[in-house]
Amino acid sequence: MKIAIIADIHNGTETRNCPLKDPDFPVVEAVEQFVERAISGGADLLLELGDRINDVDHETDTARAKELAPAFKRFPRHRVHLLGNHDVINLTAADNEAIFDCSFASRVVDLGDVRLIAWQPNVAFDYEKGSFRPTAGHLTWLVQALLEDERPAIIATHVSLAGRAQTGNFYHHFHPTYSTYPDHEAVRNAVERTGRVAIWLAGHSHWNTWTNIAGIHHFTVQSLSERFTTYPRTAAAFADLTIEKGQFTLEVHGNDPLYLRLPFQKSSEQFWVSPIVRR
Ligand SMILES: [Fe+2]
Repeated sequence: MKIAIIADIHNGTETRNCPLKDPDFPVVEAVEQFVERAISGGADLLLELGDRINDVDHETDTARAKELAPAFKRFPRHRVHLLGNHDVINLTAADNEAIFDCSFASRVVDLGDVRLIAWQPNVAFDYEKGSFRPTAGHLTWLVQALLEDERPAIIATHVSLAGRAQTGNFYHHFHPTYSTYPDHEAVRNAVERTGRVAIWLAGHSHWNTWTNIAGIHHFTVQSLSERFTTYPRTAAAFADLTIEKGQFTLEVHGNDPLYLRLPFQKSSEQFWVSPIVRR
C-alpha cells in the first residue's frame, strides 16, 4: 500500500507568506511531475496536505488554485486534499471543493487493511489571538471515527498535533502558537486512548520531523517550495509512505531527503510507559 504525499505547495510568486521562496521555482510543473510519478508508481492514494497557494485576494487565489487542479484531477485512484490556513483566507471550503472536485470535509478513506482519516478542524488562523482556534466539536467526530473500526488508522491534518518544540523553525521559532492547535494535548490524549492510530501526517511547518508519542508516529513533511532548510536551493519535496509486511517507510524525495523505516502498528499494540511525575 502506497500513499504519495505533497505538502505546502504555495503556488504564487508573492513572498509575503513565504519570504524565502524562489519566485522562479516552477511550482505547477513540479506538481504535474509529482502526480505523473504517483500514477506511474501505482500509488493507492494521493495525499495533498494543504496550503496550495500563497493568498493574495479572491481572484488571484482562485486563479492559482485553478492552475493546480488539472494535474491533481488526472490521478485515477483515491485523492485526498486538505485545507491549509492559506487556502481559506480569501476562498471558502466550497470554493476549493468546486475547483478541485472533491470534498474538504473530514472523512474516512478505506484502504483495505488500513484506514486514512482526513481530519479537517477549523484551519483559519485567528490573527487577533495569534493562534488557531480550538478543534472543539471536530475532536468528537475524530474519536468516533477511530472507535468505529479496529483497523490501524493514519490521520492526516494540515497542522501537526504533535506539539513539538519549534526551535530553529523559520516560521515558528518565535511564534510557536502558529505551529499547532491550542488544545493539541487534549486532542492527542483523546486519540491515544482509542489505541487505533499508527501514523499522523501533517504539513504546515515546512520541515521534515518525526516524533513518536505514545506509540503514534507524528510526521511533518517538508513543503514543495520551501528553502529555509536547503537555501539557496528549493526543497522540491514530496514523499512516499509505503506499508508492507508489518513495517512502513516514509521517504521524502528532493533536496531535503528523509528515509525512515519503522514498525507499522496501531498504538495499542505497543505498551508505552507514561512519563514519570517527580514529587
Ligand atoms: Fe504552508
